[in-house]
Amino acid sequence: MRYFPIFFDLDGRDVLIVGGGEKALQKLRLLAKTTARLKIVAADVSEDITAAGVTTLTVERHAFTEADLDGAALVFAASDDPELDARVAAAARARGLPVNVVDGPSQSNFIMPAIVDRDPVVVAIGTEGAAPILAREIKAKIESWLPIHFGRVAQRAQELRRRVHDAIADPVVRRRTWEALLQGVWRTAVLAGDSEAASREFDRQITAGGAQEHPVGSVALIGCGPGEPDLITLKAQQHLQSADVLVVDRLVNPAILEYARRDAIRIDVGKEPEGNSALQEDINRILVREALKGHRVARLKGGDAFVFGRAAEEMAAVRAAGISVEVVPGITAAHACAASVGLPVTLRTKVRQFAVVTGASADGPLELDWAALAQPGQAFAIYMGVRTAQHVRDKLLAAGAAPQTPVVIVENGTLATERALATELSALAGAIADSGIRGPAVIFVGLDWTSAGLLRPDKVEVYEPQREREIANEAGKRGAAATSHPG
Ligand SMILES: C[S@@+](CC[C@H](N)C(=O)[O-])C[C@H]1O[C@@H](n2cnc3c(N)ncnc32)[C@H](O)[C@@H]1O
Repeated sequence: MRYFPIFFDLDGRDVLIVGGGEKALQKLRLLAKTTARLKIVAADVSEDITAAGVTTLTVERHAFTEADLDGAALVFAASDDPELDARVAAAARARGLPVNVVDGPSQSNFIMPAIVDRDPVVVAIGTEGAAPILAREIKAKIESWLPIHFGRVAQRAQELRRRVHDAIADPVVRRRTWEALLQGVWRTAVLAGDSEAASREFDRQITAGGAQEHPVGSVALIGCGPGEPDLITLKAQQHLQSADVLVVDRLVNPAILEYARRDAIRIDVGKEPEGNSALQEDINRILVREALKGHRVARLKGGDAFVFGRAAEEMAAVRAAGISVEVVPGITAAHACAASVGLPVTLRTKVRQFAVVTGASADGPLELDWAALAQPGQAFAIYMGVRTAQHVRDKLLAAGAAPQTPVVIVENGTLATERALATELSALAGAIADSGIRGPAVIFVGLDWTSAGLLRPDKVEVYEPQREREIANEAGKRGAAATSHPG
């Protein structure tokens, strides 16, 4: 972000516009919405400007001189003369003043956003000058979504702030009351201009709030999907917007936190793949502690909370403390990765079941039903299997799986750093080691595009099994085994 959006207080400040034609008029119309003192300086000033009826405007008919900048808080170079605009910009910059040259972003040190005006609610939209058409499109969408009198709601809320504060001492209850007011009947009544109904509802809400005790909060276990922010559900987004506290896992894309309130407390509890299990107890404690403070806690997990997400332990701990818990499903990594590389996980006649298995084991060697997984036609996705790929491969082959069983590895699925690799079971570990895959990755076994009547997408690299090396490795291992178990 090169341009940082801020709102500039212009109340009673001097704003200079240099220029007397159409460009200056456009800026004047915009600035007339503020409570700034406006000055237009130009040798020629159009009648449209003088007829615009802007009471805060002073017009000075003379050529621009540097003295015109005295006292200015903001400067606009809006003449039709590029040479004059350049001079104004240079003089303003030399004094360290914020200056905008209409149609001259390279000479400006601030640029004007597209604005949706529901005063005092104002939405500013910018594309850093890259694509103003996009900004216009966003503006049109927001315009159609925000009722024309939306500002009235904010204005009334501002007027009533003190009363709510005095009537309700508990900050958590106060926040809930504001939410009830701003999202419910009171807001509808204010928008409709029905001040009697609004005042009745306001009194009802603050009486109820004043009588309320500090509430117990709640916990939502939210599956945030595989990473791509657009892949979270609307429900997850709603929870994020209302949460007071975010308890965030390692695999949750930070971009998703943009949906959250800016003042929400954020607690990172990201566990490394082989992190210790005591940390889980700490996480449980944090969830309970924050909810007991009355907070709405959003526990953000990668993918789906119920798929290798240790959601059960967290739910049990939260419920044991008498706190309500809601589970919001997310798109699990296997589904997202399969979709990202166009790989169906079931096929009507050929692949009738699909399993998800873990490649990691917290307690001792990895035990899976290798014989079942090795059966012809089995399809499954291995989570957390990058580090144990060699072991998984060996176990499956030993249980009778065909060495040519198709394998697809998707690393960082749905993210900009996504990589996908197709190979066969015999080469699984070599493919991971040679291509530097470190995870997070999902390994699909028994699925390919050809069986589905599809073509492998170009973005999927093919790892050719290096048979000779694999065979040599096998021979080496057999030799080592023979030495360590003589006889
Ligand atoms: C502890 S598990 C959590 C799984 C998660 N609850 C889910 O439903 O996707 C972590 C594993 O999920 C997989 N994973 C998560 N995000 C991924 C992504 N964007 N691309 C590939 N694999 C991913 C990897 O196998 C990783 O080791």
